[in-house]
Amino acid sequence: HIFPICALNTINFVLKLHYWVFFLTTLLIFQAEIDVAVQLLLKLKTDYKHLTGQDYKAGCPPPENVVNQDNGAATDGIDEEDNVDPWNVSTSNAKGVDYDKLIVRFGSSKIETELVDRIEKVTGQKPHRFLRRGIFFSHRDMHQVLDAYEKNKSFYLYTGRGPSSEAMHVGHLIPFIFTKWLQDVFDIPLVIQLTDDEKYLWKDLAIEECHRFAVENAKDIIACGFDVNKTFIFSDFDYMGSSPEFYRNVVKIQKHVTYNQVKGIFGFTDSDCIGKISFPAIQAAPSFSNSFPQIFGGRKDVQCLIPCAIDQDPYFRMTRDVAPRIGYPKPALLHSSFFPALQGAQTKMSASDANSSIFLTDTPKQIKNKINKHAFSGGKDTIEEHRKFGGNPDVDVSFMYLTFFLDDDEQLEKIKQDYSSGALLTGELKKILIETLQPMIAQHQERRKQVTEETVKQFMTPRPLNFKL
Ligand code: TRP
Repeated sequence: HIFPICALNTINFVLKLHYWVFFLTTLLIFQAEIDVAVQLLLKLKTDYKHLTGQDYKAGCPPPENVVNQDNGAATDGIDEEDNVDPWNVSTSNAKGVDYDKLIVRFGSSKIETELVDRIEKVTGQKPHRFLRRGIFFSHRDMHQVLDAYEKNKSFYLYTGRGPSSEAMHVGHLIPFIFTKWLQDVFDIPLVIQLTDDEKYLWKDLAIEECHRFAVENAKDIIACGFDVNKTFIFSDFDYMGSSPEFYRNVVKIQKHVTYNQVKGIFGFTDSDCIGKISFPAIQAAPSFSNSFPQIFGGRKDVQCLIPCAIDQDPYFRMTRDVAPRIGYPKPALLHSSFFPALQGAQTKMSASDANSSIFLTDTPKQIKNKINKHAFSGGKDTIEEHRKFGGNPDVDVSFMYLTFFLDDDEQLEKIKQDYSSGALLTGELKKILIETLQPMIAQHQERRKQVTEETVKQFMTPRPLNFKL
């Protein structure tokens, strides 16, 4: 009877084997399904992070103002002819960047006539030509600022400049001329950030050079006529190290913005130095009033309004996104269009090309020669053709410059009509521009000469300012 037992054992073994094979196969198939599911979940989480810039938390909806990849990154495919970010501005259109499309792309609001009228009503002053002519064309939350101002809740101004060289051109003055007007009509304090650290990180310059440029540029800024009792100008290299409150805000911002977010907003890549990646927090910090305890006495709720060129908006989209998460009000913004290069509105002027713009140090003769030689003309090739068909002011740089600097609306309108009809020749148009810019630059140079080292020191010393909130 040994045999049957062996046979039974064998059968038992085979049955057990079948059972295990079946069990293990099922387990393996099941495991594969779990793997697929885990992969899928992981992908969903990384997609979520990619889109929102934040880690996924179960049961937590994404924040309202999600800063995502197509919020202003250089290549979003909506309008390929325009490229606008803090370091590059270019377009293939001779009339310049399409600002209406930019408003849609950046998600800001257009400055409508209604808003300009409201500013006039609230301040009791004729709106600045930059507002009348749509040179400041876009905003964020300006109505809220005015609502509060009407209820006696004041605000402060913040603007800045990256000091990349000693030479400033007329285009650089646009935000400062406008900010000076805002300071006057609203009677409010102003902080001006000179990002010498930004220029050190982005350009091939030494720290000492960048800091020196900051002080030199401060003189041109002061020459715009700011009130020393209401204005604080600071170099990042100086102020960051001396103000614990400022640095605390920088770090707070750094903690609440991910690498994904800045990558999406600014287009940083893996080979950008970490200084660039964290810099946006430094440009964001002055938007919060407690970064300046000497001015606001530690208050963190004073509303900030930032006049700037539209290419700076990415910094402030990021700022507005973090503000409520760290318990601060979002800064409001007023955006300007770009000042065109002499060669045409396709590009912003470059401080490194002497012929691309009128510099604040140019002599009357240089101004005349540059305009006559380099200002792109919308006129016709011959006088006969010009008289017959007229010129095109929309692409004519001399005419564009006049819209920035000639204050008389009626005179400007007449020039436009006459140029379009052919009654006014290109040479005559250029002459009007030359005669507008020469005294303007000469006066600037005169005011800059009055700015002593002592004055600069006064403006750049952290101190209380004179105002009521
Ligand atoms: N990044 C700006 C530039 O390169 C300088 C800047 C700093 C600025 N803070 C600002 C400009 C606030 C406008 C508003 O010119």
